Amino acid sequence: MTTSIFDATGTNPHDDERALIELFPEGTHLDAEGELVVGGVRLTDIAERFGTPAYVLDESALIRQATLFREALAARWPNSRVVFASKAFPATAVYRTLAEAGLGADVAGGGELALALAAGVRPDTIVVHGNAKSADELRAAVDAGVGLVVIDNFDDIAKLEDIVTGRQDVLVRVLPDVAAETHEALATGKQGSKFGLGRADAEEAIARLRASDRLNLRGLHMHIGSQICEVDPYVAAVRALASYGEFDIYDLGGGLGVRYTYDDAPPSVEAWLDGLVGAAAAHLPRHAQLLIEPGRSVVARSGLTLYRVVSVKKGHPTFVAVDGGMGDNLEVSLYGQRFEATVVNRVGGGEAVNLVGKHCESGDRLSTGVPLREPRVGDVVAVPVTGAYCHTMANNYNGARRPPVIFADGQRTRAVVRRETYEDLTRRDLADVRGEV
Ligand code: LLP
Repeated sequence: MTTSIFDATGTNPHDDERALIELFPEGTHLDAEGELVVGGVRLTDIAERFGTPAYVLDESALIRQATLFREALAARWPNSRVVFASKAFPATAVYRTLAEAGLGADVAGGGELALALAAGVRPDTIVVHGNAKSADELRAAVDAGVGLVVIDNFDDIAKLEDIVTGRQDVLVRVLPDVAAETHEALATGKQGSKFGLGRADAEEAIARLRASDRLNLRGLHMHIGSQICEVDPYVAAVRALASYGEFDIYDLGGGLGVRYTYDDAPPSVEAWLDGLVGAAAAHLPRHAQLLIEPGRSVVARSGLTLYRVVSVKKGHPTFVAVDGGMGDNLEVSLYGQRFEATVVNRVGGGEAVNLVGKHCESGDRLSTGVPLREPRVGDVVAVPVTGAYCHTMANNYNGARRPPVIFADGQRTRAVVRRETYEDLTRRDLADVRGEV
């Protein structure tokens, strides 16, 4: 009988390790000392060199994922573009990297527009979103020469009519009235959402835009929500778009879910596109250009967060507290998102603990009941799949300094965003208020 790697209980002692490693970017492995290596770099080395907490992005994995999206969409619908929903990681290095990989950028607001332009994203590849775009934001977008502005309400039309002197291409965001299973804060496709226009309003907006000599109606937009792990709602939503007649451009939004934990089973990029493009082929005009706007699914798995263990309070449960928390990861407290975690040089197995942050509230958790192997003060802990929306929503709770962003890439590992300093925390305070007059 061959017992090989299976122990007496019939389980593979390496299963935990393998399952965990699969959540990290492709290519992640353990070196000879059992240390996690991501993007060709040992995570302990990154923690040593750049400090903790730190966001780490595997640069090559990010580029591979962007390329996968672009090529897989083009293979199914050649007249197509992938536009990165930049809210998922609005750092200039990420805008630049993804632009170089051939993605456009979706921006929501003047800040993201400024970041995209600062990063050198070509304005004609920018799509402007928002349910409350100010005249100043719209003017900045038009002046920059953005490719598309997405009309979300009649006020957008009125403001643009005032601002535009030449011609501006626009889309109308339609509310397809489709429910997708996700956290309620992330659902945007159903009647009652603050985004987009319902049937009657959308038809009126289309009619007004067709009559405009400054605004050039090119097509329709939809975005039904985020962290969606099923394809059917997209098919229903595309059908709803088709009921408005024929247009040149259809922007089908983003929303593809990612695998945060062992239990999550989102469709692959290919399966998602099969569904989306299949629906487009069935219901939309063949000559049309298709746009998609993935955010989370482009960046999430390329990223992880490194922390150092600050204290271990043994008990039931045992609390392992690290030097970050809800200052750098709001996903847990805002959306109940679950994450796995590991000590970077003792991967897999171990006692279930509550991995918590350093902030002054009980909701400051990173992972509840997560197995960590012999966690000790000073250990480096990695939380995988934090590449989307964590950097975005980092904050200064308890005076936390927002973490740096490190691009991990073999010999070229470098910080692309530095850690905030305590000086940064008072930088916006006016001198007389600080008592320094
Ligand atoms: N397009 C539009 C118009 C959007 O509003 C969004 C996301 C996307 C595309 C990209 O969706 P994704 O592919 O990333 O699912 N703060 C939340 C996420 C909110 C997403 C909002 N809109 C979080 O931290 O999970």
